Amino acid sequence: MESTERIRIAIDGPAGAGKSTIAKALARELCIDYIDTGAMYRAIALKLIRQGVDYKDAEALERLLAETDVDFRDDHILLDGEIVDADIRTPAVSQLASDSSTAWAIREKLVALQRAMGAKKSIVMDGRDIGTNVLKDAEYKFFLTASVAVRAGRRALEMEQKGEAVDIACVEADIKARDLQDSTRKHNPLSKAADAIEIDSSAMGIREVMDAILKHIRT
Ligand code: DC
Repeated sequence: MESTERIRIAIDGPAGAGKSTIAKALARELCIDYIDTGAMYRAIALKLIRQGVDYKDAEALERLLAETDVDFRDDHILLDGEIVDADIRTPAVSQLASDSSTAWAIREKLVALQRAMGAKKSIVMDGRDIGTNVLKDAEYKFFLTASVAVRAGRRALEMEQKGEAVDIACVEADIKARDLQDSTRKHNPLSKAADAIEIDSSAMGIREVMDAILKHIRT
């Protein structure tokens, strides 16, 4: 990548579509930073759980957000300076991240942070509202999808590899519930930006998806 040329790549899509795998690999290949915005919503959800705060309690949420710092260092997600990579990947945090990301105060804080992160340098950012809201003027926008069955299968494999018990019907139901909530919420729901390129990765491997994306970036 030319050092003078700044590119921002937005990758949106539903849970389990492979966004973070692809975004991470793409950032590595292009030697630019990767910002996992889902991890930021998860970090806030983790703090809500740890402090026993209900995100619907506006005052308590405001107080919590005022004293919360979410950042990245060397591809680790930091919550108030603590690396929480593993703690944010539990089913309870997944569910609460989806629920609490409907709160405007949380979105306002995280979107401001995300815009600042994308203000000066080349980045790959993945999430739900990057192409439609956070980086509306991104140079490249992709919308990554896959069938529910494929996405559930990938999630189940990930869980199995971590030694967790897997009930595929539950994984599928969880994905469907999150899809519905993420795409129907009031503020900045998951949706494909009009100018985003859609890639259905149901029958594609990681390299194929990468090549499909790089074809657009390098031509
Ligand atoms: O990508 P993920 O599964 O780690 O995201 C967790 C939740 O965070 C997701 O269910 C919805 C929310 N989220 C969001 O509202 N906006 C984003 N840009 C990224 C994630």
